[in-house]
Amino acid sequence: MRDVYVIGIGMTSFGELWESSLRDLFVEAALAALDDAGTDRLESMYIGCMSSGLFVGQEHIGPMMADYLGRTPIPATRIESACASGGAAVRLAYLEVTSGVSEVVLAGGVEKMTDGADVTAALSSAADQEYEVYHGVTFPGLYALMARAHMQRYGTTSEQLAQVAVKNHYHGAMNPKAQYPFEITVKQVLESSMVADPLRLLDCSPVTDGAAAVVLASEDVARSVNGKPLVRVRASAQATSTIALHNRAEITHLDAVEKAARTAYQLAGMAPDKINVTEVHDCFTIAELCVMEALGYAEPGQAAALVEAGETRLGGKLPINTSGGLKSKGHPVGASGVAQIVELTEQLRGTAGDRQVSGAKFGLAQNMGGTGASCTVHILEGLS
Ligand code: COA
Repeated sequence: MRDVYVIGIGMTSFGELWESSLRDLFVEAALAALDDAGTDRLESMYIGCMSSGLFVGQEHIGPMMADYLGRTPIPATRIESACASGGAAVRLAYLEVTSGVSEVVLAGGVEKMTDGADVTAALSSAADQEYEVYHGVTFPGLYALMARAHMQRYGTTSEQLAQVAVKNHYHGAMNPKAQYPFEITVKQVLESSMVADPLRLLDCSPVTDGAAAVVLASEDVARSVNGKPLVRVRASAQATSTIALHNRAEITHLDAVEKAARTAYQLAGMAPDKINVTEVHDCFTIAELCVMEALGYAEPGQAAALVEAGETRLGGKLPINTSGGLKSKGHPVGASGVAQIVELTEQLRGTAGDRQVSGAKFGLAQNMGGTGASCTVHILEGLS
């Protein structure tokens, strides 16, 4: 196994992008990443995409994206792991380079969600059809169950959930590519319409079009291409849990996140307190708290206190979702895990502008599918 580096990053704006098709979005992000990498060399690509078939009626997007990127006949494979499709694509690209099979591989993610499909039904296909969806539950409903359980068990309040959204919008207001680049208040969250009690509109990530891409390469290539600060992948880990929430011993505990994180810390040879900047999968505000606890950033039930104390804000000890997270930046489901790597690379290169975490050296990205049934964790290191 050899070292792998992120040499190029690119992403589209996130939002309701009527003028761009699924392929337009992917090609825009991939060309930006290749341009940033400063090389034309590309031996293979993986495309994270949860549900292009249900959202826009298009399957078989591996060759389609290779074709429209002008890269046939290289291998191009679509990867599906629900909302963790992007993280899984990054991991497969990493494995292809670290194993020595290829020198330069692109990992992209794309989703086009606003073209008129029944989005809630399409997203629900990532839950357990027989035991969850047939009974009428949706993803906002499943995360609402987790939120209610967290409240009962640990005394977590709606105000504390709202503070997660407020913090992520504070960061997202500094991200020109975010879908909702504006600040919000706790009062606005608490007064927004109820979606699934106790989660309100502003506790939820939105429905989004967008794409992101990263180019991964071996050390020889990384040192010879663009002269940009080197960013090394220190760990790539993945884990699974039960697909249905009710089969977990404790529904507030994301065991796949804990497992993937433990593996990643072990591979990187470091404890969570070494991480300077983190992107987590905040599909709903409660998710960010449960993920923090599963990553070992807080004891069970203690994450909300860190958010309240401002520790997870830019300037705090543990900045989380400086990109704006899924909540403010947007959540084109197959692209989100790749966009996290884009943000961390900016941070570790020192090019994140107003969102820069001063002196950031280690970054962690956590991406998950469904209610955490699949999870990837990547740890990156800036070598500048
Ligand atoms: N944050 C901030 N503003 C939002 C928003 C969000 N998450 N979602 C919608 N808005 C805004 C819209 O821009 C719109 O504003 P406008 O009236 O000024 O144009 C308004 O709120 C209503 O938007 P609309 O799209 O009609 O809302 P909706 O009721 O159709 O959908 C949700 C809202 C929360 C149900 C939908 O975004 C959703 O399902 N989110 C979860 C997605 C999901 O499950 N992802 C997978 C996670 S596992």
